[in-house]
Amino acid sequence: MSDTHADGPQSGARDPLKLAPEDLAWWQDAKFGLFIHWGLYAIPARGEWVMHREQIPAEEYAKLASVFAPQAFDANAWARLARDAGMRYSVLTARHHDGFALWDSPASYGQFTSVATAARRDFVAEYVAACRAAGLRTGLYYSPMDWRFPGYFQPRELPENAALMKAQGYGQVEELMTRYGPVDILWYDGGWLAHKGSDRDAAWFWEPEKLNAMVRRLQPKIVISPRSGWAGDFGIDEGGHAATGPIHEIPWEKCCNLNRPSWGYNAQQDLMTADEVIRMLVAVVSRGGNLLLNVGPDADGVIPPAHAAILREVGNWLARYSEGLYGTRPGPYQPVEARTVAGRYGATQKGNRVYVHVLDWGDEAQFVLPALDRRITGAALLGGGDVPWTQTDDAVVVTVPAGARPPTPTVLALTVPV
Ligand code: GLC
Repeated sequence: MSDTHADGPQSGARDPLKLAPEDLAWWQDAKFGLFIHWGLYAIPARGEWVMHREQIPAEEYAKLASVFAPQAFDANAWARLARDAGMRYSVLTARHHDGFALWDSPASYGQFTSVATAARRDFVAEYVAACRAAGLRTGLYYSPMDWRFPGYFQPRELPENAALMKAQGYGQVEELMTRYGPVDILWYDGGWLAHKGSDRDAAWFWEPEKLNAMVRRLQPKIVISPRSGWAGDFGIDEGGHAATGPIHEIPWEKCCNLNRPSWGYNAQQDLMTADEVIRMLVAVVSRGGNLLLNVGPDADGVIPPAHAAILREVGNWLARYSEGLYGTRPGPYQPVEARTVAGRYGATQKGNRVYVHVLDWGDEAQFVLPALDRRITGAALLGGGDVPWTQTDDAVVVTVPAGARPPTPTVLALTVPV
């Protein structure tokens, strides 16, 4: 299966397909995005892999398109919710592994699109317009592989059929890159073949360098995910497991599900709490990453109210503490994971401030941080007041007595010379 946890190739000679660091800066500043998995699979409500897992024949699965006619779909409502949650970008599954395109796609094999079937709507067009209106950076997810093609499962035995799938992939990527104005993110997923090996192992077939050279020509500044078989502009850590270890060396993104059972809408619900989302966000950002948090709207296009409520709760927290997140870079302290006497925290920095994201205050009134190479001129709790501090060559000690400690996660800001 795909090498989904790879951070992508490290340094070496500069890859001409990669974005220049200054063109990736907005993405690194943004920190928090909304991932949206939505398509026909919302109807059976057993996740986006239902067609493959349950071995539903393509013709049978295709019947879902004749009843997929969401009445409540409102891209503006999705975009507003993302803003309310404090998100700065969004990524929608324009087409997942089932092959159903949410736009008017001439290249779609068999015209398996939301425009040619019951819905008769170009959801990608509506979504892109809504993101722009809400001031969200716009991302599109695209899966080159498509379960409808036997050639996907047997590319060497059925080369002609596999070639049809490849032609569809190139054609659809070109459509997405030319019909909707500037797109900020192209989020490939599934550059594999037959669910085997890594994306890179399938590069002989997909020729991702060729595909992405076209993308760069059409959208020179677009941020590209690493899952087409080419390294891309950032690394991905997929899944709800904790973000651990030191600050990553390359830009990266954690993607995970608000509703744990699947990416696409699922009748089964096991939601992350707002507190879990916030802690995940802090853990990721203090390691140099972005968090792309996924929701699966239902068959009618609605993000379930319980999910939306959690996102708004996260937004309320961010309204108070976001100064320590957006636009920052990780450090100068490495994240401290295990609960120690000195507590648990991660750090970010921007301008004349170092932000210490306190995940656990520890047991002492004194919160002890390692030495800092700059002289501190002030310490304050974001949304609270100044706090007493001392600095020696060995440590920075901030004193916040138990009664004066805001609940964690909270943010301590140290003022330093720029
Ligand atoms: C996996 C799954 C897919 C999901 C994706 C999100 O690759 O195949 O269903 O879209 O992860 O990162």
